[in-house]
Amino acid sequence: MGKIIAIVNQKGGVGKTTTSINLAASLGVLNKKVLLVDLDPQGNATTGVGVDKGDIASSIYEVLVMKSTIDESIIKTKSKNLSLLPAYLNLAGAEMELIELERKFKSIDKPFNRVLRLKEELDKIKNNYEYIIIDCPPSLGILTTNALAAADSVLIPVQCEYFALEGIMQLINTIMLAQKKVNPNLDIEGVLLTMLTANTNLGLEVIESIKSFFKERVYNTIIPRLIRLAEAPSHGKPILEYEPRSKGTLAYLNLAKEVIERNGTKEESIG
Ligand SMILES: Nc1ncnc2c1ncn2[C@@H]1O[C@H](COP(=O)(O)OP(=O)(O)O)[C@@H](O)[C@H]1O
Ligand SMILES: [Mg+2]
Repeated sequence: MGKIIAIVNQKGGVGKTTTSINLAASLGVLNKKVLLVDLDPQGNATTGVGVDKGDIASSIYEVLVMKSTIDESIIKTKSKNLSLLPAYLNLAGAEMELIELERKFKSIDKPFNRVLRLKEELDKIKNNYEYIIIDCPPSLGILTTNALAAADSVLIPVQCEYFALEGIMQLINTIMLAQKKVNPNLDIEGVLLTMLTANTNLGLEVIESIKSFFKERVYNTIIPRLIRLAEAPSHGKPILEYEPRSKGTLAYLNLAKEVIERNGTKEESIG
């Protein structure tokens, strides 16, 4: 059964989308069947894997508001083992529509929970993949709440900067609330340090403070700040296709290996 990992941090610009694209593509290259779910109305994960917004017949928005099925909305990307459930600007209207749908269902006495829409849909296709990676928007609104309800775990990218831990308590509280209300088994998959500028004392200080907070949940892999990683999305390619021999490719492959290893160990300890 597929493991659903939500990439979450309500701060914008911390590397959620870059990590979603490149972790998903790296898992694919390591022979895992992967679905990347773009849950951000900006649709940057969609364009980042080479899918043109004009070519999207049906997106996650239509799936959430029950205008089309998840099967007909998932598309294959050019990357190995990587499929995509795309997003488009219309996703920004999902919250209002979901409230409206809930009202309609109530009026005819049918059950409907707007927080569980993504979970209900992903449950239908979960068995077709080994990993499902959800790129969340930079807020803790209804879309992120849907991701927290649907996910097995959350991966938190944290930018190596002075205010890195700002907002983290609010995020932890939101995760705990999701555990209490809708998803008791929701786990923290790991914490990823991103955009480290080489050879700065500030970077090292930030790493220390994040490690003392999150302890062993912090991945050994740290993503360096690299121009190539910022350039790749405008070419519609994950880093391992845009610049196969770059440090960015190596970093995200190492992250994917750590993710696989952590999950392998868990399965063994259960069995
Ligand atoms: N490791 C990195 N090195 C250099 N630029 C990066 C790196 N990771 C992300 N970026 C750039 O920083 C910006 C924010 O990253 P993004 O992944 O879109 O963050 P988020 O999804 O959290 O808003 C983007 O322009 C992206 O290209
Ligand atoms: Mg993003």
